[in-house]
Amino acid sequence: MKMATMFSNWRRLMLLGLVLALPPQLAQAQEWGAVKYFKYNIENVTVTPASAGWTVRVIFSVTNPTLGGTWNIKNDLPFTSAGASLTLDIGWDAASDFTNTGSANAALSPLTALGSAAASPVQVRSLQGAAGAATACDLDPVQCPGVTSTTNRFWVQKTVTPVAFMSVVKTGRVAIEGKPVCNGIAGYTCPTAVPPFAVVPVTSATANFAFTSTQSLAAMIPDPRRAIVDINKCHQCHDGKQHGDVIVPKLTLHGSNRTENLSLCVACHNPNQTDVPYRYQTAGTTADPRIAGPEVPIDFKVMVHSIHSGGFRVKPYVVVGFGSSVNDFSDVRYPRELRKSCPDCHIDANGKGTYELPIKATLGTTVNTQSTYLVPPGASRSINVDPFDDVRMTPTAATCSACHDRSEFLNHMVATGGASFSTTQANIGTTVKEKCANCHGPGKEKDVRKMHEIGHD
Ligand code: HEC
Ligand code: HEC
Ligand code: HEC
Ligand code: HEC
Ligand code: HEC
Repeated sequence: MKMATMFSNWRRLMLLGLVLALPPQLAQAQEWGAVKYFKYNIENVTVTPASAGWTVRVIFSVTNPTLGGTWNIKNDLPFTSAGASLTLDIGWDAASDFTNTGSANAALSPLTALGSAAASPVQVRSLQGAAGAATACDLDPVQCPGVTSTTNRFWVQKTVTPVAFMSVVKTGRVAIEGKPVCNGIAGYTCPTAVPPFAVVPVTSATANFAFTSTQSLAAMIPDPRRAIVDINKCHQCHDGKQHGDVIVPKLTLHGSNRTENLSLCVACHNPNQTDVPYRYQTAGTTADPRIAGPEVPIDFKVMVHSIHSGGFRVKPYVVVGFGSSVNDFSDVRYPRELRKSCPDCHIDANGKGTYELPIKATLGTTVNTQSTYLVPPGASRSINVDPFDDVRMTPTAATCSACHDRSEFLNHMVATGGASFSTTQANIGTTVKEKCANCHGPGKEKDVRKMHEIGHD
């Protein structure tokens, strides 16, 4: 391992036990044993037309599945003590792949909140505590239609202005994410009785809704998006236990705020999203050459395939994150046979694997947002949030090349497969047409299932 890699990659160093200074979001201990005292519930969603856009209201609660009852997020210690946070996310285009187009302004200063990044959901932060953004339903029960009780139910709302990208926006998704801290939980001994308290990585909650003017009382709908992978399959490895040479962490990311709910991850990790928000030099950072590299897609399929194919990929997959942290995944080794890995994560639907072709995704994956971002500390920068001019890879090529990244195969995808690694969305499916399924589709000569040596059950 090169020294540069060693010293900038705190994620690896954590595992080696060598960390001196942790990034802020990892400084907190996680208390998984206390998770069973908390459950986030989205009880109702209403949608009302506003002068510009739509007002989306979420009525929610946090219950205690172990002892019964409902937490008061305005007064109870796990929510009012230092380190606690609760956030509402609102994203859209839930039926296909999220784009959240219209969620941000064109000119951005260096981010303090992820919510401002191109293609990110709109966020309302700090719902909890006496001064928090949520309002108790008990103060005016009329504000909370459709719930059986208003006790310890809360509401929060935000007006959003979805912009159509390739199709009219019909559906959205809301999430309640964040974490209480381990302090004042009846019947549970927390690791410390003084700050910093351990955080409790409670499973994030999501619900889907329709943008229609008739939904001012109840807008919730069943999940409109195709199911592709299943968190329970991820749990085979992501259980905090040893698999092969490593302890595979439970799936809580971003400061223990986004936890074990893939429906939340995909709202941000969508085809239009890259790591551009943090690809700039902050004052005081030594310029790691990897920060100055091109922005990297964090589309969920590209990211999750790339993370798990370290050792097979020839190009390191490096995401620049919060505080310009460099997350280099090239030394991840999949603890099973990578060739046969598809059903480890993927589900079957309609008698075939969701990893089989033709692909259902229609959006290309952005590789270049056309932003100005590689600037020295203090200089102005701007993130181009217009998805129409993004340079993209076609969807199947994006998916397969996340593992098969050798140039000869990229050339094959273009020359034989009709793919492109530098096109715009308007061309995809029109002038640029992928033909992969002709040869790699089910029953074809080079069938994806057969080529990866996966049998039929
Ligand atoms: C066969 C085992 C296995 C399965 C199944 C698996 N993973 Fe992983 N995953 C790993 C290993 C090993 C790592 C690297 C752990 C390390 O070195 O820190 C990893 C790392 C990750 C990371 C990076 C974590 C971090 O803290 O940086 C993410 C995100 C991830 N996996 C998501 C998923 C998702 C989502 C699924 C299910 C759809 C999944 N994984 C299924 C083994 C697995
Ligand atoms: C509100 C938006 C948002 C949500 C929700 C979200 N992410 Fe991210 N994620 C980002 C952005 C933006 C980046 C790139 C910049 C960065 O690293 O912060 C990123 C980076 C990452 C990275 C690479 C850098 C790192 O920190 O290790 C991993 C792994 C990751 N996310 C996993 C997940 C998983 C798993 C989920 C769901 C449990 C999730 N994310 C939910 C926005 C989000
Ligand atoms: C570690 C987990 C993991 C493994 C292993 C894995 N995938 Fe995936 N795959 C994902 C995730 C996560 C997505 C995106 C899910 C989403 O968008 O909801 C995805 C998406 C896809 C898609 C796009 C599906 C769609 O409808 O958009 C295809 C195709 C695919 N994978 C093929 C494969 C193949 C082929 C293999 C095996 C060689 C494989 N995957 C192995 C996690 C995995
Ligand atoms: C999770 C990583 C992963 C993904 C995603 C993935 N593959 Fe593979 N694939 C592999 C591995 C590993 C092998 C074994 C080849 C090797 O060891 O060189 C393989 C083998 C193959 C082979 C046989 C090559 C040979 O010489 O035996 C074909 C064809 C193939 N993949 C096509 C695809 C296509 C098409 C897609 C996209 C739909 C895809 N793969 C997605 C990891 C992946
Ligand atoms: C005309 C048929 C044909 C089309 C169309 C086609 N391929 Fe292939 N592909 C092949 C053949 C043949 C191989 C070699 C398989 C082998 O080694 O057995 C191959 C191999 C591959 C491999 C495996 C590389 C390795 O590791 O050996 C990948 C990945 C791949 N193709 C992806 C794609 C993608 C993505 C598309 C569409 C953009 C595509 N192919 C379109 C015929 C085709």
